[in-house]
Amino acid sequence: MVFSHRGHVVTIAERNVARLGSLRRGVSPISETGLEEMLRDGIAAGRIHAVETAAEAVASAEFIFLCVETPQAPDGSADLSFMIAAAEEIATNLALGAIVVNKSTVPLGTVELIEKVIGRSDVTVVSNPEFLREGTAIADSLHPDRIVVGARNREIASRVANLYSDTGAPVVITDATTSELIKYASNAFLATKLTFINTMAGLCDAVGADVLDLVQGVGRDKRIGFEFMKPGPGWGGSCLPKDISALLNIAKSVSFDADIVEAAISGNERQMELVVNKIRVAAGGTLERRSVGILGLTFKANTGDRRYSPAVSITQRLAQQGASINAYDPTVIRMDSGSVDLAHLETYDDPYQAITGTDVVAILTEWPEFRDLDFARMRELVSNPAIVDARNLLEPGPIRDLGFSYTGIGRK
Ligand code: UDX
Repeated sequence: MVFSHRGHVVTIAERNVARLGSLRRGVSPISETGLEEMLRDGIAAGRIHAVETAAEAVASAEFIFLCVETPQAPDGSADLSFMIAAAEEIATNLALGAIVVNKSTVPLGTVELIEKVIGRSDVTVVSNPEFLREGTAIADSLHPDRIVVGARNREIASRVANLYSDTGAPVVITDATTSELIKYASNAFLATKLTFINTMAGLCDAVGADVLDLVQGVGRDKRIGFEFMKPGPGWGGSCLPKDISALLNIAKSVSFDADIVEAAISGNERQMELVVNKIRVAAGGTLERRSVGILGLTFKANTGDRRYSPAVSITQRLAQQGASINAYDPTVIRMDSGSVDLAHLETYDDPYQAITGTDVVAILTEWPEFRDLDFARMRELVSNPAIVDARNLLEPGPIRDLGFSYTGIGRK
């Protein structure tokens, strides 16, 4: 959509018939701020077309972007079967001298692998990792921090980089393996930074310090900064956990000891356990036959995505320890109780219903609307007035004044 917004003619190949239909009608198959408007504008301007097969989409294209899923295989590595199938499908249909650009996050060496699968000396495959975040995908694509392109041919890499020239973003041109590694390293660094600040929050709890003031004091150092410094219930989503595991696998495959990466992953597990512990303590020392009211199930706010969501993982742990769980999330409707990942809990369309009669309320996703809840009303509805705020979303003082016990992450 963003390429079309920049004036390019874009053909999308979509084999899922329902999604293809909605794309053609100008209805975005995913929820992302500004995406549908761009889709509609592109269709109206005749710059966006959606077709059923990749073969059709690539026939006259100069640049072909591979944006297929690379799910995590059971051993933690990336499953390339969709990408290989796409490469096989387009191989004979590519125009002479076409440039195939890989956007998916892939193991090192995938560019060479795809070149082999395509098997044409006139076609070049290039790595061009994507760094956008869910929820801010359009803004991130319009204003990227950097453009990374990896290829064996510098001139071709520059042609790909030129597609982004209007963004004014700095360009890093490198070989394909380094480019592929940059994506993993970026997400692994972000995850490690989060485990670090979560660890500092734990230390603040232990010594009676305040992590929010600590972040102010530390983050003002420009070399450290404030981004990715919000302590929480652990990091999740479809990228960070998958990519950091893949990076660990890459290191293991060459017998390289990436212990800092391993520590970031185990630290994240510990963080989720820590939140479970806080909820257990707030519920009176046991979760057996306790009722927990959960606010937030998505892996972060402003998305409907629950993949590798720390909130879901925490509720599963609570249920395993005997708690019954009532949950509210603005993106989950009551019908979603049938979803496999939510089978262990009851969902509600209303936050007040979800917390009624519960022994502890836990905020697990930082939806801004949770700040505006009527906590005086909640105080009347709960069985036991205890709040665990795993996102440090609330001001402890006013909550305590209402008679709740308040437990945050790294703050008194
Ligand atoms: C991430 C990367 O940020 C992005 O560059 C990459 O292209 C895809 O993966 P996304 O999966 O959308 O993007 O999530 P992100 O916003 O990075 O958040 C990841 C996790 O970290 C979430 O669980 C979030 O709640 C948590 N987080 C983030 C914190 O706990 N504290 C923070 O300060 C920031």
